[in-house]
Amino acid sequence: MKKTFSEEIIGWYLENKRDLPWRNITDPYRIWVSEVILQQTRVAQGYDYYLRFIEKFPTVSDLAAAAEDEVLKCWQGLGYYSRARNMHAAAKSMNGVFPTTYEDVLALKGVGDYTAAAICSFAYKMPYPAIDGNVYRVLSRCFGIDDPIDTAAGKRIFKELSQELIDINQPDIYNQGMMEFGALHCTPKSPHCSICPFSSHCIALDEGTIDLLPVKKSRVKVRNRYFNYFYIEIDKKFTFLNKRIDKDIWMNLYEFPLIETKKNNSLQEIVTNVSWKEWFEGISNVNIAPVVENIKHVLSHQIIHTNFYKVTLPHAEDTLSRFLLVNLDDLEKYPVSRLMHEFIDKFLE
Ligand code: ADE
Repeated sequence: MKKTFSEEIIGWYLENKRDLPWRNITDPYRIWVSEVILQQTRVAQGYDYYLRFIEKFPTVSDLAAAAEDEVLKCWQGLGYYSRARNMHAAAKSMNGVFPTTYEDVLALKGVGDYTAAAICSFAYKMPYPAIDGNVYRVLSRCFGIDDPIDTAAGKRIFKELSQELIDINQPDIYNQGMMEFGALHCTPKSPHCSICPFSSHCIALDEGTIDLLPVKKSRVKVRNRYFNYFYIEIDKKFTFLNKRIDKDIWMNLYEFPLIETKKNNSLQEIVTNVSWKEWFEGISNVNIAPVVENIKHVLSHQIIHTNFYKVTLPHAEDTLSRFLLVNLDDLEKYPVSRLMHEFIDKFLE
């Protein structure tokens, strides 16, 4: 008898799955942590972060009791820091008990359809299809669907199809299988079509549209930004940090005093900037030198063009009292962006 789509996926999964620490567990808290880490992160990168996070915060109560700085420190380098801030806020809202219905899981801060379905199917075996980028790719190709996956109408089509395909007796294995099949076999580039269990029914393979699917409507515009950071060294012992509190990238992370400009300014231009004047005008003999210039730090929707300058001062000045005076030995304790971390690692040790 011919195998159904879900039987084919589950059969492939059981033969080919990777052994990953968040599989074969039913603790919804740990599943939640793994899914949030893996939302915008590859397994290879997320693996160690997951283990470290769970070691530091083994239960939802441990996470709820932690300071935000500690949570962000554990997340440092993973990017998309709102994931960590939202997870921390959601943990605090739970009173130590993870919700047990789909609606209550979906209501958690930062949890959308995908994450709620993943948690409820893996932890509670509820038949909700978890549709991530991998799943969109597999379905769009196999079933030849060219509706855009980033529109409400397109999403509905994939959701309805997924609800028909899911194995309601083992939704956990079906969902894991779909994701794994997309991650390892039906890959964005060079998928393994010649040895694919679906090769005789895959519409995209038949029509030669593998490379065109899935379809996205919008290409996000990339925004260029120009950051000038000032590593201010005082008496070789201290520096200043600023906490980013605005709703912007890296919210609640720390950084050196920053002047953002409209284009890549030279040092001569920077010293005419209003902030520069506020911080340093009137101080005699400000010693400033570029350390690295024009580093391009690429984020999903922004390119941060960055100059790092070193300013040497004999003592802390009142004009800089808006910043946090930090002993250089304590610098590593603060959560910072990958850009900041790489600078500290390469140039300040
Ligand atoms: N990507 C998102 N969720 C995943 C999971 N549970 N296993 C492997 N890759 C994933």
